[in-house]
Amino acid sequence: MKRICLVCQNVDCKNRGADELMKELQQRVKDQGIDDLEVRPYLCFGACQEGPNVVLYPEKSWYAGVKKGDLDDIMGHLAGGPNVTRLDTIDGSLKELIYQLLDTGVF
Ligand code: FES
Repeated sequence: MKRICLVCQNVDCKNRGADELMKELQQRVKDQGIDDLEVRPYLCFGACQEGPNVVLYPEKSWYAGVKKGDLDDIMGHLAGGPNVTRLDTIDGSLKELIYQLLDTGVF
């Protein structure tokens, strides 16, 4: 199964630069030849005030308040490096809800 990096593209996340983040991630993934990973838009994770939100699936990592300066560390994680724990700030019950939704195949 392909890994997916979902980048919220709803209003609040977009207003904080999520569109640019998604394009940058897509470009970096392509440039680094990470073929088992797809960077895709997502409608909304329900944590709009804490965006931009990025979720990695199926590994289930959620990064909130992502800025351009975080992309090096996120790319490091996507390439097999450690979790970026400073961006893992979302409430556990919301994360669980979204992960369950993703487990049903709703993207
Ligand atoms: S707008 Fe991004 S989580 Fe809702």
